[in-house]
Amino acid sequence: MSFNVAIDGPAGAGKSTIARAVAKSVAALKNFIYVDTGAMYRAMALYFLRKGIDKTDESAINAALGQVEITIRYENGAQQVILNGENVSGLIRTEEVGNMASATSVYKKVREKLVELQKNLAKKADVIMDGRDIGTCVLPDADVKVYLTASSAVRAKRRYNELKEKGTACDLDEIEKDIIDRDYRDMHRENSPLKQAEDAVLLDSSDMTLKEVVDAIVAMIEKKQGA
Ligand code: DC
Repeated sequence: MSFNVAIDGPAGAGKSTIARAVAKSVAALKNFIYVDTGAMYRAMALYFLRKGIDKTDESAINAALGQVEITIRYENGAQQVILNGENVSGLIRTEEVGNMASATSVYKKVREKLVELQKNLAKKADVIMDGRDIGTCVLPDADVKVYLTASSAVRAKRRYNELKEKGTACDLDEIEKDIIDRDYRDMHRENSPLKQAEDAVLLDSSDMTLKEVVDAIVAMIEKKQGA
């Protein structure tokens, strides 16, 4: 039986940075693979953008699904997302793709396709998987479940600093507005909305350092392993 860790939370809560650091930190205990499920929704969104499919046209999206094949592979431990044979990992981190992913992940058929892939990965390996519906829907029996959040102001500031560091022009208020819109959409959609699983541990990282958050999750994993 594989040992699975589910980390859910809103955009910009630091899930992927933290999940990666946790995987590294518990490597002696367990050989986890880190699965970033947002990257799968982003790769799918990139396909829809390239094809010029309207994000509100559910039947066009459903019809296109048969032509989309998403897989993942690992290069030096880093997850790569493959869209119809092309490694698109470097193309999916834009706001445009993120917003399209948020808009198109509301559809049942889109979710079914990716959830199946995610469940299969977790069956074969010990995973630390991050997303929006991992603890509630993809891995309801995960051994450790975390709901990681932070205030929208803190998340916007982190994103702003990241973009500034890369030399990208940006506006803090606009970033926060975008985050609030995205939260609303992710939390209020009909199909597996973002919410804390009943048995998930809530971690609000607004006033915590990265190390404090990582240590808290590592402690949960160690406790469960010892149990
Ligand atoms: O985590 P992210 O920003 O890369 O995710 C992009 C979008 O994909 C997010 O706004 C909602 C969607 N998503 C989802 O619906 N379910 C997941 N498990 C992961 C992401």
